[in-house]
Amino acid sequence: MTTSRRQLIAGNWKMYTARAEAVRLAERIAGFDTTFADVLICPPFPWLIPVADALRGSPVQLGAQDVWPGANGAFTGGVSTAMLSELVTHVIVGHSERRQVVGENNELVRAKLGAVLSAGLTPILCVGESLATRESGDAESFVRGQLISALSECSPDERERCVVAYEPIWAIGTGRAASAADAESMATAIRTELNLMQAGAGESIRILYGGSVTPANAVETLAQPNVDGALVGGASLHADAFGAIVAAARH
Ligand code: PGA
Repeated sequence: MTTSRRQLIAGNWKMYTARAEAVRLAERIAGFDTTFADVLICPPFPWLIPVADALRGSPVQLGAQDVWPGANGAFTGGVSTAMLSELVTHVIVGHSERRQVVGENNELVRAKLGAVLSAGLTPILCVGESLATRESGDAESFVRGQLISALSECSPDERERCVVAYEPIWAIGTGRAASAADAESMATAIRTELNLMQAGAGESIRILYGGSVTPANAVETLAQPNVDGALVGGASLHADAFGAIVAAARH
C-alpha cells in the first residue's frame, strides 16, 4: 500500500554523548541520504548549538528532547520554546521516561504540546502503555485516552502539525520491540482516533513507532502502511545502525 506521508526517522539521544562524540555523530548523520525519509536528531540540550553547527547545510533536522511551557519566566532549570525556536524544528513531548521517572501527567504534557505549537514548532507527542496495561487488554483505550487528553483542545490546524510516536513502555530500551503487526495495529487505532477527533486529520498526521528499533527489525516495521517512521533511542547513537534504519524507510 502506498501513502503520501513521508516517513520520519528521529533519533533520541537521551542523556548520552559527550560533546566531541555528539559532534562526530552529527557530522556522520549530516551526510545521510534523505531522499526517502526525513531525518531528525534530538541531542541533549547543551549540545544543540555544536550539533546545529555540525548539521549546517544538511537536510537533517534538529529537535529537542523536552521543553518547559511558557516563553520565559522564573522557572529554574526550564528551557522555553522561545529559547529553542532559533535552534530546533521539533520537540519531543510526553516521553514515557518523563511521564514515569519525573512524574509528568497528561495536564503538563498538554501544556507543553500547546507551547510547542504556539511557537510554530512541531511536537512529537509520545504515547504508549505499560506492560501491565497491555496484558490486561486495555492498551488501545489507554493510548486513546492519552491522545484525547493531549489533542482534544488543539485547533484543527494545530492538530495536523503534530507527529505522534507510539512507544510502548515495555519496548523502550529493553531489546523487546513490538512486533511489526502490533505496531501497525496500534498505529491504525491511533489514526482512527485522530480521524474521529477531526475528519481527515488521521490521514496527514505522521505516526511513528518507537521502542528497541534496530536495523534488524526496522525493515518490517517501516513497511507497515500506518507506520510513518521511527523514534529511535539506543540505535541512534551509532551512525551505522541509525543509517541502516534510515535506509529501511519506505521507498
Ligand atoms: P530505544 O528508545 O530505541 O532505546 O528503545 C526509544 C525511545 O525511548 O524513544
